[in-house]
Amino acid sequence: MSAINKGAELLQVRGLGRRFGGLQAVDDLDLTVHAGEIVGVIGPNGAGKSTTFNLIAGALGPSSGTLAFAGTRMNGLPPHRVARLGIARTFQHNRPFAGMTMAENVMVGMHLRMKNALWRQVFLVDESARAEAEAASHAGELLEFVGLGDAKNADVSTLSFGQGRLLEIARCLAARPRLVLLDEPAAGLTPAECDRLCEIIRGIAAKGIAVLLIEHDMRLVMSTVERIVVLNFGRKIAEGTPEQIRSDAAVAAAYLGDLGGLTRA
Ligand SMILES: Nc1ncnc2c1ncn2[C@@H]1O[C@H](COP(=O)(O)OP(=O)(O)O)[C@@H](O)[C@H]1O
Ligand SMILES: [Mg+2]
Repeated sequence: MSAINKGAELLQVRGLGRRFGGLQAVDDLDLTVHAGEIVGVIGPNGAGKSTTFNLIAGALGPSSGTLAFAGTRMNGLPPHRVARLGIARTFQHNRPFAGMTMAENVMVGMHLRMKNALWRQVFLVDESARAEAEAASHAGELLEFVGLGDAKNADVSTLSFGQGRLLEIARCLAARPRLVLLDEPAAGLTPAECDRLCEIIRGIAAKGIAVLLIEHDMRLVMSTVERIVVLNFGRKIAEGTPEQIRSDAAVAAAYLGDLGGLTRA
């Protein structure tokens, strides 16, 4: 992580497109994320934000364009190979592994990183006790980092919704990524949880990890990101600092029904 100078181009998306039948969900998108940078992706519902994440994470293949990460071409790589390059993601909806503790859920994120290993093997095969202890200790640190340290041995079924969102973030950091993709992490959070999320996102960037953030909560976006990319109908309609985006006419037009949300921020 620290070997990469902040400012180096980490993620390079060029001319990216994805069709679903007759629908062009992502259209000729250029997007760059530098090491350690926080970039916001905003746009109305259906603008193509989550599809863009799915394309970057390898969950979907592009119809056109190129994707590269730290100089490695990613087109056609399956999700586990993309994860191994150093990209981790959260989903728009919580997906905890039932019947496991919080710490075990975070450890699943680590094991996804291990070569050729199904995460189950780690629990079945007699790995060295030391490796397990290290994994547990790292999981504990990550749970502390997101403010869930006290609940690390709690079963995930006892989680509140907001705690589940934070657990997702801890799990995705477990893979020691260089870039995290956060898809609407503030959705459903209380204002206090939102404030904590702001701090967590800044803390992730402070570790030198780049953040690509899809978010509807404009207060959160405007107060955390350095740069914003605005999508509408799959196309990038604006890009700039929070200040530039706030005063952009095309952005205001795209948000007609939602203008209050943008200007209130
Ligand atoms: N797997 C899919 N099959 C067909 N259409 C999809 C699929 N995923 C997304 N879409 C469509 O692509 C468009 C963009 O969706 P999405 O990327 O989820 O938007 P956003 O995250 O910005 O709300 C929407 O019109 C959506 O209905
Ligand atoms: Mg979405």
